[in-house]
Formats: sequence, C-alpha cells, structure tokens
Amino acid sequence: MKTVKDYIRTIPDFPHEGIMFRDVTTLFSDPRGFRMAIDQLLHPYAGERIDRVVGLEARGFILGGAIAHQLSVGFVPVRKKGKLPGKTIAQSYTLEYGEATVEIHDDALQPGEKVLIVDDLLATGGTCEAGIKLVEKLGAEVVGCAFIVDLPELGGRKLLESLGMKVHMLCE
Ligand code: PRP
Ligand code: ADE
Repeated sequence: MKTVKDYIRTIPDFPHEGIMFRDVTTLFSDPRGFRMAIDQLLHPYAGERIDRVVGLEARGFILGGAIAHQLSVGFVPVRKKGKLPGKTIAQSYTLEYGEATVEIHDDALQPGEKVLIVDDLLATGGTCEAGIKLVEKLGAEVVGCAFIVDLPELGGRKLLESLGMKVHMLCE
C-alpha cells in the first residue's frame, strides 16, 4: 500500500539552484493520498479541544481548510504581507531561500482559543515560528503544529520544540 511519502515528488533546483523542492501537489491531486494525509494529520488530536485551524500560506490553506471542515471549526489564514484586507498584525522571518513577512487579521482569534497550525512542509521553522508569534500576540494558544513533510537537516522541528510546541509530521 502507498504511503503519503509515495505521493510527493521532488523537483530539483526550484525555485533556486541547489533547492530540492518537495512538491505536494501530486499528493493533493490524488483522492486516496489527500484523504490519507488529512486523516493522518488529524490523528494525534482525536478528543483534543481545537477551536480554530490556522493555515500558513499557501499550501497550508489547502490542508487547513480540509482539516477545519473535518473538525467543524473555523479556518484562519496567515498570509504573506499585503494580502489581507482588514486590520492586521505582522511578523517577519527568514526562509530557507529568502526573507518574508506574514500577517493575520487582528480580530481573527479570541484570547484563550486553542489553535492547530497547519502547513505542508517544515524546513527552518521560520514560517511556523512567525505564525506561532501571531497567534500568541492575539492571546490564543497553539496546541500543535502539523506538517506533511519535515526537512530535519534544516532544524525546524528542534526550533519549534524548543519553543514548547507539540510538532507532528507525516514523513521526512
Ligand atoms: C514553504 C512551505 C512552508 C515554508 C517552510 O512555503 O510551504 O510554508 O516554506 O519553510 P521554513 O520552515 O523554512 O519557514 P513558501 O515560502 O515556499 O511559500 P508558498 O507556500 O507561498 O509558496
Ligand atoms: N519550503 C522551504 N524549503 C522547501 C523545500 N525544499 N521544498 C518545498 N517547500 C519548501
């Protein structure tokens, strides 16, 4: 039987020379693969209170939307700078290949809400750390960070765990 990892392809030298890009579009486009990924991402949180799912742009939106629907809770996007129409708070961070700023609507979460953060891939952890900071600035609590792929050599898991986060991923 195929595993989640079997549905992911690698594109060398994208978006820059030397980057091995782990492409999850082939996982998302397969009905069995996509369902397997959503079910496995949710598995550790069975019975746990989750009030909102926060998805990190862009592939975290696809996963986060499906997970929020499955849990019957709301979905909140963390977007790249300048994309959200309402009043936002911002957080800058460093990527494996560049720098960026992400934003969240300042009224998207309420203090005390339990939040699951979702993205396709964990590399340096910079994007997720920025997402965690935004969630916490709004007074909500991150109960877990869930990813399809971990790139362990880039240290993201260690970084998030050093922040006290529960981190869950489906493959390396
Ligand atoms: C990728 C990936 C994560 C982030 C992980 O997004 O989807 O969001 O990088 O890297 P990090 O752990 O080093 O922060 P990307 O920046 O390519 O943005 P996109 O999904 O909008 O294309
Ligand atoms: N984001 C950061 N590094 C990546 C990689 N190697 N593949 C896909 N997305 C990424």
